Parts: sequence; structure tokens; C-alpha cells
Amino acid sequence: MGHAITGAGELHVEQQSSENEVNPAGREVISPRAVHTNRRLVIVSNRVAVDSGKHDSGGLAVAIRAALEKSGGIWFGWSGKVEDSPGNEPELIAAGPLTYATLDLSQRDFDEYYLGFANRVLWPLFHFRAGLVDYSRKDFSGYLRVNRWFAQSLAPLLLPHDLVWVHDYHLIPLGRELRCLDQAQVLGFFLHTPFPPAEMLRILPNHRELVEGLCAYDLVGFQTKSDAQGFCDYLIHWAGAEDLGNGALRAFGRIVRTQVFPIGIDTEAVSGHAAAAETSRHMQRLRRSLGNRTLMIGVDRLDYSKGLPARFSAFGKLLEAYPETRNRIIFMQIAPPSRSEVPEYKEIRRTLAAAAGNINGRYSEFDWTPLRYINKSFGHQILTGFYRAARIGLVTPLRDGMNLVAKEYIASQPREDPGVLVLSCFAGAAQELSEAVLVNPFDVEGMAEAIRQGLDMPLGERQERWTAMMKTIQHNDIAHWRESFIAALQASGGPA
Ligand code: F6P
Repeated sequence: MGHAITGAGELHVEQQSSENEVNPAGREVISPRAVHTNRRLVIVSNRVAVDSGKHDSGGLAVAIRAALEKSGGIWFGWSGKVEDSPGNEPELIAAGPLTYATLDLSQRDFDEYYLGFANRVLWPLFHFRAGLVDYSRKDFSGYLRVNRWFAQSLAPLLLPHDLVWVHDYHLIPLGRELRCLDQAQVLGFFLHTPFPPAEMLRILPNHRELVEGLCAYDLVGFQTKSDAQGFCDYLIHWAGAEDLGNGALRAFGRIVRTQVFPIGIDTEAVSGHAAAAETSRHMQRLRRSLGNRTLMIGVDRLDYSKGLPARFSAFGKLLEAYPETRNRIIFMQIAPPSRSEVPEYKEIRRTLAAAAGNINGRYSEFDWTPLRYINKSFGHQILTGFYRAARIGLVTPLRDGMNLVAKEYIASQPREDPGVLVLSCFAGAAQELSEAVLVNPFDVEGMAEAIRQGLDMPLGERQERWTAMMKTIQHNDIAHWRESFIAALQASGGPA
């Protein structure tokens, strides 16, 4: 992903064009492509994707880098390294107009901030898995400590007119820590995961502190309406916030604006990669290995939020209930291991290995193995070729902020013979891709039926659904997401 970057930074915000409209509430709606700024952009994220020159970064990384290259700026965060005695000063790597500023973590910080609080408390809670939350005060204070340290290391690098854009659940308290250091810049936050309903959030002993942290930002962006709603409901019902309308609330003595920005992909680039992959060696090998059987594909980090055990069960159910599909379909599930130090991730890995073994043991023939379960990652271009070759894309998370695999699967399809997307109604992407075959990932039989429906779907219907979804993802692409956020952030500095 990440091309066609029209960038955040060429003209001046004071020259907002007359393309901007005034909405019924009297507040100016800023057209994202109409607002430009020469203000420096500072991106803060847990991981920093330093450009290795190998074109191996994900789309978000490419898009962020492109914005920074246009406006000039800093990308600040964790280096990905754990060191015995990490320095206090960030390592600075200049790359033209953009500077990467990274910090190493100590083992203790990694355990408490990243593994402990971010990935064993916030991740399960934000994915509606309260039963998996493993809370400790030690991890929470480690989370706050690292956020404070990040703020202290970042503050000396900031200029008064910078636009600061913080990403994801690891760094919720960073804004408040910057405010405590008298940093008055416009601060924005975007949550890539879902945000839970207020009642679920209250499971967290420090729910109030966390939400107060979010209110230190001028703009808080969410993937979907229901995520934004969860946050606003909490503020109104549990923090006595005043609803100022149009997504703005007065809470904890500040005004915070909320808005929905569904993240997209670089649709044109993904389509181009997929078409180019047709003739690659990987694709020739894949086609040879399939023979004339139909390919169904799933690509997910090995994470319990992705619904993989139920997906495997649905595939087993398909083979059981529709015996005519045996020896006709191959399901390839690519699932690179992720966060392997966390016990729940070790557990899901064991569960899936056993489930895959059971399906293959039960249904394989001497010349057909139904499930190819692969625990490694592939380059992005190779994946787009795999998506293109698959008649069905199976994206069935139990809960997901957005899920870009769903969008990449659509972008990779050939117009003349597109495949079918089977999509969980609990992925953020389902809000936009309503023409997919939507399933409830808790309904194994329903998922097996949906796969069957996809296998039988006539060309005309496949084209109709695909055309509608393609139009959506062409419009809401990654550049649109990034520029909409930056425009709204730029506009959020003034009075509500
Ligand atoms: O989707 C959430 C997210 O944290 C992304 O920000 C990240 O790229 C991905 O999951 C992988 O997780 P981690 O950085 O913990 O390996």
C-alpha cells in the first residue's frame, strides 16, 4: 500500500478553500483534500517502521511515511529492541525531511507495558474478551511509566506548531503526559482496535484514568460509529461530560472531538500488485499444486481475536455436510505467529495445530490435503497474488477494528471473474463492505453455509457484489483516511 500520496503539507491552513461546507450544526466541515498545512507532522506509534529500502513495509507504514515526507516531521516510538540498559535519549535517524526517533525498551518495560498491560489487558478487553484480561497494578504502572518516559523523550523534539498524531492502544496516556510537560500542540489520537461499550470498559480498574487520558487529545479518531459511540457513552454516563454536538464533548475540563475515520488500503497499488503477481513463480507453483481445485484463503496474525478455531470448524462442517466439496476445495490459512511470549497466544497456537491435524487426518486423501495451515509470513506482493487466485476470501474475526485483509482481498480480484468475500459482521470492515457474504463467526453452521453459497455463486452476482465493494474501497483508500484525519486534526485546534 502507500502510493499516490497527495500529502499533508504543501499549502497553508489559513487558506482554506471555498470547497469547505457548513453543516446544519453550523460547524465547518473540512474537505480533506482542501486543507493543507505547512505545519510539521509528528507521528507516535508503538512500533516505528524505519524504511529499510526493501519495500517490505505494510500500507499504514508507507502511508505515514509519505505524509511525513511531504510535511517534514518525526516518527517517534519503540525501536522493537529490548536492551539490558536502554539509553534515555532517542536514536535519531534522518531520512530527508523525516526523522525517525526510536527508543529501546528494557526487559521490565517490555514485560509490563507491552506484554502485560497493552497485550494482556487492553487488547483482550478492547476485543470484548473480558475473560482473557489478566490485570495487575504492576503492569498498569509499567504502562504509565513507559508512556511518561516516551513523553519526556519526545517533548524536547517538539515545536510549538507541530501537529502530533498518536496511534493505538499502547499510547493512550501519552497525550496527558505531554500536557503535564506543558506541551500545548494540537494532539490527535487514532485507535486502530475496537473501543468497548462503557459497561465492558468498566471491568478495567483504571477505566476512568484511561478515558481521562484520551480527553487530553484534541481529536480522538475511531474506526467505526459503534467504537466512537462507546467512548461518548462512557464520557456522558460515567464522567459527567457535556455533549456539545457534532462529536464534541466537554469532559475533564477540556473539549475533545471524536470522529470516525475507517482506515483503508492503497487500493490501486494492491490491484496492480495482484495483477502483476499473476505470472510470478509463486503463482505458478500455487496453481500447479491446486490442479483444478478451488482455493479458499484466510490470512491473519495468529491471534485469538481472529476466530480461527471456529473458522477451522466451519471448514470441517462444510466437508461433513457437503461431501461433494471433498477433493474439490483447498483451504489455505496463512497465520504467522504473533506476540508468542503471551500465554494466550501460545494456547491458541496449540489449539489450531491440533484442529488442523484433526481435519486433515479425517478428510485427506492420498492425493488431496484439504487444509494447508501455514505459520509463516509472505511478502505483500505474493499475498496479493494468492488472494487473486482464491475463489473465496474468509475473514471471520470474532471482533476486529477494521481488518484490511478483507479490503486487500477485494482489491486483488480480477474484474472479469471476482471471488467472494465471506466476512464477519464483527469486523469494522463489515460497516463498509455490506455486499460481502456477512456471517456471524460464532455460528459455525452458518459459516459453512456461507462458504457453500460462495462456491455456488453465479458470475453475475459475484461481479455485482465486487463492483460495489471495489467502489467503496477506491473512495475510502489509505490516502483519504490519512488526509481526513490530518484535516480534522488541523481544524480541531480552535473553539468547538
Ligand atoms: O492491529 C493492532 C496492532 O497492534 C498493530 O498496530 C500492529 O501492527 C499489529 O497489531 C501487530 O502487533 P504487534 O505490534 O504487537 O506485533
